[in-house]
Amino acid sequence: MNPTETPSDPGAQTELHRRIQAAIVEAGGAIPFERFMELALYEPGLGYYERTPENVGKKGDFYTSVSVGPLFGELLAFHLLPTLESLVQTGPVEIVEAGAHDGRLTADLLGALDRFSPTLSGVVTARIVEPSPIRRRWQESRLAPFTDRVRWSDGLPHRFRGVLVCNELLDAFPVERWRWRSTHGRWTKQGVAAGTRGFHWVDLPDPAPEAWIPEPALAAVLPDGFARERCPAAAIWWSCASEALEEGRLLTSDYGHADASLPDPTRPEGTLRGYRKHRHVEDPLADAGEVDLTAHVDFAEVRRAGEAAGLSTLHDGAQSGFLVGVMKETLVAPDRFGVWDAARVRAFQTLTHPQHLGRAFRTLEQSRTV
Ligand SMILES: C[S@@+](CC[C@H](N)C(=O)[O-])C[C@H]1O[C@@H](n2cnc3c(N)ncnc32)[C@H](O)[C@@H]1O
Repeated sequence: MNPTETPSDPGAQTELHRRIQAAIVEAGGAIPFERFMELALYEPGLGYYERTPENVGKKGDFYTSVSVGPLFGELLAFHLLPTLESLVQTGPVEIVEAGAHDGRLTADLLGALDRFSPTLSGVVTARIVEPSPIRRRWQESRLAPFTDRVRWSDGLPHRFRGVLVCNELLDAFPVERWRWRSTHGRWTKQGVAAGTRGFHWVDLPDPAPEAWIPEPALAAVLPDGFARERCPAAAIWWSCASEALEEGRLLTSDYGHADASLPDPTRPEGTLRGYRKHRHVEDPLADAGEVDLTAHVDFAEVRRAGEAAGLSTLHDGAQSGFLVGVMKETLVAPDRFGVWDAARVRAFQTLTHPQHLGRAFRTLEQSRTV
């Protein structure tokens, strides 16, 4: 047995495991890790994000800013109000969300908009970008009170005016995983193979991206086995969203690095993590479909994709700093935002405290004005 094989009960293999195994056999013995992650999270009807809307939040496997309560959506709505109010003067306006899961953030945004600016409610529509029919049903149920104002599309709209928000979308995209092999002096792409006792890692022959060829001084000190991830899909997706934005803003919050162009010495195992019941899972290849898999977003790469499409960057930094800025905006307009009651204060502390959601998350906000 390969020493990195995952012990598991072969009798308990699920349909998802059989499909992953079939993909491995069809590929000649191994699939790239990004394909494994795609199957584990998104295989229709079977993947982790296809099974239940309840995997996010207290009873699930991990918290998100949205699952903390309505405050996150209220703060985003409040912050984006001036943009929406200005855009409605000159044409139709949409709030677009991607990665909506059970639809809670769009519900929070629309609910907040109704309270903060009733005149906007009748004119601004919402769109959820949702490729999965199963998740779309969860969202339809959550958004029943707003049914005449929400529509869905499988992919990004070709053109839109308004705001696009996503929370923990890009950090849920399948990532490539690479390991430094010092004997060969190169980054080696990681694949997944199936053994008698589960899935295990293998090296693939793919060449590493040219930008990753290290300086000799770095190559000399990089420890053997050092791991990092790469997610070209995140920047491509953001580039498409940026191109589609005629006028307005794009905003994303995710786990992330400010800049991942160089390996991060504090993370020799990279940032790929599995979560189950609010705990780290040791082996991301174990229990596919039962475990959330996520990796840090390279914010510099995503930011550059937006700027290359002509957007201006308004914020690229810690989510806590962004939210503190919005909180200050609310304090000068208490009539509109309402009282900072005890529930709001508690939620704000959870969102910004470094021991809760305040440390690992970053927010990128970009805009196009015409
Ligand atoms: C970590 S969850 C975040 C859920 C929610 N935004 C929140 O903050 O609670 C990531 C969500 O993104 C969805 N997702 C992943 N790729 C997507 C894509 N290309 N388009 C739309 N949703 C996607 C997943 O299905 C999952 O529901």
